[in-house]
Amino acid sequence: MFSQKVLDLEQEMIDLRRKLHADPELSFKEFHTTELLISELQKIPGLEIQRPTKTGVVAVLKGGAGEGRTIALRADIDALPITEETDVPFASKNPGVMHACGHDGHTVMLLYAARLLAEERDKLKGEIRFIFQHAEELPPGGAIEMQKAGVTKGVDEIYGIHLQSGIPTGVFGSRKGALTSATDRFDIKIIGKGGHSAFPETCVDPMIVAGELIGSLQTLVSRSIAAVEPAVVSICMISAGSAYNIIPGEVSITGSTRTFSRETRAKLPGLMERIVKGLCDAHGATYEFSFSEGYASVINDPELTRIASGIIRQSFGEDHYREIDPLMPGEDFSAFLLDCPGFFADLGTFNGDPRYGVPHHNKLYCMDESSLKYGVQFFYDLVRERLS
Ligand code: NI
Repeated sequence: MFSQKVLDLEQEMIDLRRKLHADPELSFKEFHTTELLISELQKIPGLEIQRPTKTGVVAVLKGGAGEGRTIALRADIDALPITEETDVPFASKNPGVMHACGHDGHTVMLLYAARLLAEERDKLKGEIRFIFQHAEELPPGGAIEMQKAGVTKGVDEIYGIHLQSGIPTGVFGSRKGALTSATDRFDIKIIGKGGHSAFPETCVDPMIVAGELIGSLQTLVSRSIAAVEPAVVSICMISAGSAYNIIPGEVSITGSTRTFSRETRAKLPGLMERIVKGLCDAHGATYEFSFSEGYASVINDPELTRIASGIIRQSFGEDHYREIDPLMPGEDFSAFLLDCPGFFADLGTFNGDPRYGVPHHNKLYCMDESSLKYGVQFFYDLVRERLS
């Protein structure tokens, strides 16, 4: 259950979360937040503070009990371009910016975990890196920037939590394997030869190719990817044409794909382009094809999932860990997984009060702050177990 130390700090955590909530900052512009974090981290003895990027902070705690693993814990610190419309007294004072995804809570949970673990320094082996990551909400995201700056170099395992209004307070939801989807974008231009609608034989009609392409691209999911492997190909924008009697010279098609496994994600662009090329060849058209990668899928390591979910059950009871379905929203925690295995979980903040059930990224989003202590206790228990 809860350590007395965690309970004693609960009101302080809530107060700090409210302070952060009142001063939210957009992705890549978390200047006050970073400043506040540094001043709070400086109060904790034993931490080495690093600034690998313009915003965002890393604090390193070296255990005093000898060699051991290196564990990273990560929180994201940015807010969203939303005008807050809640009536809480600590509502955003920055017009058009709101902590509507709970990252203020993530920041506080990690900070208090650092504070408590620093007190246990002499009993811990190895090293802990507390990663306060900027810009989760805006691709290409802050995680990849920090990863490239080396913050997860030499890390053996990494953990992260996202607060979630769709889950009861204090309940953790996660799964082994793919947890969040990879969200990528494709742009296709079909280039034909325009002309008079009365003389199609003098043209190469890109509309015909586009029509066949729309249907054919769907066969990738049904025919080229295993039925048990989730994938979505959605065409969301098409533009062409200027008059009722002119065959256009070009058609532009844009859309997005969602995948979970690295293999499916990697093979999809090639399969798409093969169909585009084949149809263009068949009709005498040419094409341009581009595929831009967004956030990769968060893949939870099976062994770390077993360990972390075991700690959650042990700390709070069997019913505090729930296996959930894969989540469609992207999450750039995945960038850190390029360097080490990890475990990421949602932590519920819904206590039955409808105000706390409002979805994330909404102007009325609110959290049940009594969830914060669960996140702190989890990090505290997890690290002490892994580094003892
Ligand atoms: Ni978020």
